[in-house]
Amino acid sequence: MEPTVAVIGATGAVGDVFLRVAAERKLPMKQLKLLASARSAGTTLTYAGREIVVEETTEASLADADIVFCSASSDVSRQWGPWLRERGKVMIDDGSAFRMDPTVPLVIPEVNGDDIEWHQGIISIPNCTTTPLAMALHAMRQVAPLKRVIASTYQAVSGTGAAAVRELNAQVAAMGRGEPIPPPEVYPVQIAGNVLPQVDVFGEDDYTAEELKMRNETRKILHEADLPFAATCVRVPVAVSHAEVVNVEFTSDAPMALLHEALRSQAGVELIADPHKYVTPLDVAGDDRAFVCRLRPDRTVEFGVTFWCLTDNLRKGAATNAIQIAEEVIKRGKLKY
Ligand code: A2P
Repeated sequence: MEPTVAVIGATGAVGDVFLRVAAERKLPMKQLKLLASARSAGTTLTYAGREIVVEETTEASLADADIVFCSASSDVSRQWGPWLRERGKVMIDDGSAFRMDPTVPLVIPEVNGDDIEWHQGIISIPNCTTTPLAMALHAMRQVAPLKRVIASTYQAVSGTGAAAVRELNAQVAAMGRGEPIPPPEVYPVQIAGNVLPQVDVFGEDDYTAEELKMRNETRKILHEADLPFAATCVRVPVAVSHAEVVNVEFTSDAPMALLHEALRSQAGVELIADPHKYVTPLDVAGDDRAFVCRLRPDRTVEFGVTFWCLTDNLRKGAATNAIQIAEEVIKRGKLKY
């Protein structure tokens, strides 16, 4: 029996990519419902060549859904998650609202797909910076246990949403024409021609929420609750794809040849083995893989490596991962729980 699928946030940056990826992968479904805020009700979106009218997200519009993808805001996830769970539906949530909830699996299918088995109606997908990193770390820890991880990110504006992409484009266009730059509305300062060493609000120990999310989520996905981990998250004037520089220390020797082998065998990861070659955010936009490049020794510690890691934040960082989870839920017969 094929499910009825609903997408909350269908008109957003992730929603748009979700529709494309679901059509490409032919996500099995008997009906697709596209939902957003009241502002978008009555507009149309195209799915696999056919137009679908967007509806407001309400109890009525969600009533017949079996699987609900949610990529709107944490408030919207919190509003609908428990309601959907109580009615026996499965919500796959792109937001941070439930990621650290012990009753909610946080899943990258190629890393911890088995965690889907214990879901109770809500399954979270990780933050878009966590995903490629956790995939690379999972491969590497097959060679030697992880001792410590340091990550610095270069994050695209589409991670903030469609309004942030419009803000960057408008500022870049004004710069190109030599006109005054439109004042920032989404970010605290101008993003065009700039980098912002702050993603999300400040929190514990003066780390930002994004930095804490990366740490906590990586620990949860890898089932390594005490993994020493620190991140610095930076927003860059790039439309799509999050990149990261990562330093990993191991507890014992991790020979480069074995790391290459582990990364090559990791589903979803593409290793660029020649350390003088690499891909950029532009290269990986539109691709579903997580890339590991410039892998080389970190001689500041006894057993360490450093590398450049990146993925399309809207695809594997969000929509593709969510769709893969739905495919697994269906395949494993976990629509009922
Ligand atoms: P809308 O376009 O009607 O505002 P982005 O991440 O690109 O900013 O997109 C956010 C998505 O979340 C949009 O699809 C937006 O719909 C949707 N959204 C915002 N508020 C709500 C809400 N209260 N209920 C449902 N969807 C919402």
